[in-house]
Amino acid sequence: MNVVNDMLREVHSQFVADTSGGVADYIPELAAVDPDAFGIVVATADGYVYEVGDTGTEFTIQSVSKPFTYALALADNGEDAVGAKIDVEPSGEPFNEISLDPVTERPRNPMINAGAITSVSLVHGRSHQDKFDRIRDTYSRYAGRELTMNEQVYRSEARTGHRNRAIGHMLRSFDIVDTDPDDVVDLYFRQCSIDVTCRDLGVMAATMANNGVNPITRSRAAAPALVERVLSVMTTCGMYDGAGDWVARVGLPAKSGVGGSILAVLPGQLGIAVYSPRLDQHGNSVRGVLACRELSRRLELHFL
Ligand code: DON
Repeated sequence: MNVVNDMLREVHSQFVADTSGGVADYIPELAAVDPDAFGIVVATADGYVYEVGDTGTEFTIQSVSKPFTYALALADNGEDAVGAKIDVEPSGEPFNEISLDPVTERPRNPMINAGAITSVSLVHGRSHQDKFDRIRDTYSRYAGRELTMNEQVYRSEARTGHRNRAIGHMLRSFDIVDTDPDDVVDLYFRQCSIDVTCRDLGVMAATMANNGVNPITRSRAAAPALVERVLSVMTTCGMYDGAGDWVARVGLPAKSGVGGSILAVLPGQLGIAVYSPRLDQHGNSVRGVLACRELSRRLELHFL
């Protein structure tokens, strides 16, 4: 379908000159990326991948990992047990807020760090290494290739991640996390440091669009009911404080990460991934938001 490739090229050239925003540097190693990198991928639920720009450059998945680990926690524990620990309400707070819902005393949703760290604590495994391997293997199944962890980013994040440790210990003190919080937060740092490409994220999004089955390898990464729940939470909570504007102007469940990527899903149809590391005031990729708005407009994807 050359028409899709042509359209991707047009959208890419429409925004490539926009250098507004800034690269995340609160984790020192995150600032080492090429700020000008810009890739766009559309991958369909029947396995076609269309791409333009820097779609093979590796970067760390960061918060785009959160929906995938949440799905794994749901698969390991069931919806009721996970629901007893993590709510599904938008928070209206920054992603790294050290807070719980004052009424339920639970993290407000799995897309903020408190909820994401709780998801990690619910992943089953015989050992620390086994838990991380299960997380990495699961992401790899969505992506259709074996993903690896970026040691430099992991070490940089572990050295500077005091706020996430504070969140881990807060969760432990409220018995939301019932294992060693330092181990749980270490796993969270590791999952955020898994390297992906824009193409990987496009295929991961297409796997979600295809009810949890990777459309290229045909391997199942998650059960359909879990994907449905995860996409619902992405709709209300995936884009942080930019969520309202995102739903109004793009209209797709999505997740962003401070590494500079955005993943969006049109259930049953396709996945979109954009990589461009400069972020806006909400922590969302500037060109990522613009490209997704434009793709949604041109392809009439807005379904919410
Ligand atoms: O928790 C952190 O600081 C990061 N490793 C993940 C942050 C992230 O991507 C937040 N989202 N936009």
